[in-house]
Amino acid sequence: SATGKMAASMAHEFNNPIYGIHNVLEKILRRVKLGVNNRRFVKLAIQECDRITGLIRKILDFHSPSPENKERMDVHEAIEDMVLLVQNSFKERNIRVVKEFAVDLPCIEAVPDQFKQVILNLLQNAGEAIPKRGGTVTLITSVLENNVQIQIKDTGAGISKEVMKNIFDPFFSTKVAVKGTGLGLSVSYGIIKKHHGEIMVDSFPGRGTTFTLFLPIKQETPVALPRRA
Ligand SMILES: Nc1ncnc2c1ncn2[C@@H]1O[C@H](COP(=O)(O)OP(=O)(O)OP(=O)(O)O)[C@@H](O)[C@H]1O
Ligand SMILES: [Mg+2]
Repeated sequence: SATGKMAASMAHEFNNPIYGIHNVLEKILRRVKLGVNNRRFVKLAIQECDRITGLIRKILDFHSPSPENKERMDVHEAIEDMVLLVQNSFKERNIRVVKEFAVDLPCIEAVPDQFKQVILNLLQNAGEAIPKRGGTVTLITSVLENNVQIQIKDTGAGISKEVMKNIFDPFFSTKVAVKGTGLGLSVSYGIIKKHHGEIMVDSFPGRGTTFTLFLPIKQETPVALPRRA
C-alpha cells in the first residue's frame, strides 16, 4: 500500500542519522573521561538509539514485501543466534533458557533475518512476561508432518482472555509506552504468514504462555501441468 511504502521509506531514511548519533556517542564513551553519572547518561542515550533502530526494524519488517530471498536455513542455528542476543538481559533477570531441540531437525526455507526477528520478538515477550523473581523460557523443536514446530514457552504472567483478543493487532500493547510499541506480534504474524506458516498461542494466566510456530519443511512448488496435445 502507499502508506506502507511511505512508512518503509521513512523508516529507512531515519536509519542513517541514528547510526551516526550512535557512533558519536560510542566514541565519546571510549575517548572522553567522564564521571559516573555522565557515563550513565551517555549509555542511556546509546540505548535509546538502539531502541529507535529496533523500532525502525519492526516498521520495515511490517511492510516488507513477500520474501523472495528465501534460503535453506538451519532453525537451531537461527534460534541460538537470538538466544545470544537476549542472554545478558535474561541472566540479569534470573531467566533460565532451556533448550529441548530435536535431533536431525530438517532445514526450512526462510528469509533468515525475518525468521530471526520473529524468534527475537517471542523471546523478548517471554522475558518481559516473567516476574522479577525470575523464571524459565523453554525452547522446543520438533517435526510434525510436513512442518517444523517451534515452541517458546515461558513461566510468565500469562495472557488474559480479554487481552488475548488483541495481541496480534499492530500497536496493541499492555506495556508502558517506553517498553512496548505493540508491533512485535503483528510483525511476527505477518512474517510467518508470508512463509506459509502458522503462529499459535496458549496461555494460562498466572502460569505462563506458549507460542507455537509451524513452518513448512518443503514449500509447495507449483506442479507443471501436462501440456494439451
Ligand atoms: N509471552 C507473553 N506473555 C504474556 N503476555 C504476552 C506475551 N507475549 C505477548 N503478550 C501480550 O501481547 C501484547 C502484544 O505483544 P507485542 O509483542 O505485539 O507488543 P509489545 O511486546 O507490547 O511491544 P513491542 O513488541 O513492540 O516491544 C503485549 O503487550 C502483552 O500484553
Ligand atoms: Mg513484544
